[in-house]
Amino acid sequence: MNYSEKDKKYIWHPFTQMQDWENDDIIIIDRARGNYLYDLNGKKYLDGVSSLWVTMHGHCHPHINRAIKKQLRKLDHSTLLGLSNTPAIELAEKLVELTPRGLSRVFYSDAGSTAMEIALKIAYQYWQQDKNKKHQAKRKFLTLKESYHGDTIGSVSLGGVDMYHAIYQPLLFKTVQLPTPYHRYGNEPSLEEAAAVLEKTLQKHQQELAALVLEPLVQGAAGIYTAPRGYLSAARRLCTKYNVLLICDEVAVGFGRTGTMFACEQEKVAPDIMAVAKGLSGGYLPLAATLTAEKIYNNFKGKFESLRTFYHGHTYTGNPLACAAALASLELFKKERTLEKVNKNISLLKEELSKFRKIPQVKHIRQRGMIAALELPDYEYKDKIGHKICAAARKYGLLIRPLGSNLVIMPPLAIKPKELKYMLSIMYKCIQETV
Ligand SMILES: Cc1ncc(COP(=O)(O)O)c(C=O)c1O
Repeated sequence: MNYSEKDKKYIWHPFTQMQDWENDDIIIIDRARGNYLYDLNGKKYLDGVSSLWVTMHGHCHPHINRAIKKQLRKLDHSTLLGLSNTPAIELAEKLVELTPRGLSRVFYSDAGSTAMEIALKIAYQYWQQDKNKKHQAKRKFLTLKESYHGDTIGSVSLGGVDMYHAIYQPLLFKTVQLPTPYHRYGNEPSLEEAAAVLEKTLQKHQQELAALVLEPLVQGAAGIYTAPRGYLSAARRLCTKYNVLLICDEVAVGFGRTGTMFACEQEKVAPDIMAVAKGLSGGYLPLAATLTAEKIYNNFKGKFESLRTFYHGHTYTGNPLACAAALASLELFKKERTLEKVNKNISLLKEELSKFRKIPQVKHIRQRGMIAALELPDYEYKDKIGHKICAAARKYGLLIRPLGSNLVIMPPLAIKPKELKYMLSIMYKCIQETV
């Protein structure tokens, strides 16, 4: 059996209709360098999806490779339950330094979903063990339709993408859910409208709300929907006013993707709890962190027998190799002036995207920093328009993934201007060929 046959015999792929997969020609990636992946036949592909939104400085970057090798000579893994390790400590210090002011404690895990499970459990427990016992009714979460926070049951409960989540409804806890104010084709509420709906809901449900949960600036997995400018800062102001915690899920938007290190910076927002993952390790190893404000951390302190402990932890929490990779990735942001280059690419991307207005089927173009989408809303799900365009792009050596009828642009931060132009020209050609 060759690798393709063995894959089809043994692997169940995520987010994949396996009946189609078994009948398709599949690409098996064998190696990578910079912004390119190479398959078993040596064919080269530009990684237009950052290997699912994680690759920052390119693949197999010598600086991160060296850091992992160096760490490997010292310590592979040791638990954070009852022990600590140096890379986890150094990284926590760096994260507190880099994230919005007020976030002062770092709880590690290994995926975006787990970072969000931790966020919601901390927020829930925080109110339950409130010292004045005045807030124990605060058990619910305020969420936005079309949010995506991961695939574990808690994070699915916070989410609102029907295609992924509807079937699990009976398993989920109930939230107070608002229609999404984020923009897509046919849905573009103004900031004033969106903020008014949010305020009304917070006012009505303040006694029972533990936290508002949102993806700052961009709802990613729903199809790259973009928030009205000012919505995030309005959310911060209103959460403070109605005594509701603000949880920001920076799993997709964190680490430079929107042009600033964190999306929250763009509206000068400091959430009470923030989740990061994906790009944290530069795209190398599974690593996530949930950061909290000091008042939340302090609320969990008490006598051993008080049971205020946060009884939560994943086996690989604070893995030294992953933390070493993350530290090296953060060093590269400085060393390679990544954000400066990203901001140049953001202008170029804007220019290139405007060319797509000439294609009548592209009805909505959205961009926030280096995250963008082209929406072709006139097709039905069964048309698989996104899949078809992405399949066409593979022939030209470009890897992209659709979200329904949205084509997603999420290249590594280190993409060179000429590679970005190439990527968009291939997309243009493939849309024209396919529609
Ligand atoms: C905003 C957001 N939160 C959480 C997650 C879940 O992360 P993971 O797949 O690492 O569990 C994702 C994944 O796409 C995401 O985009």
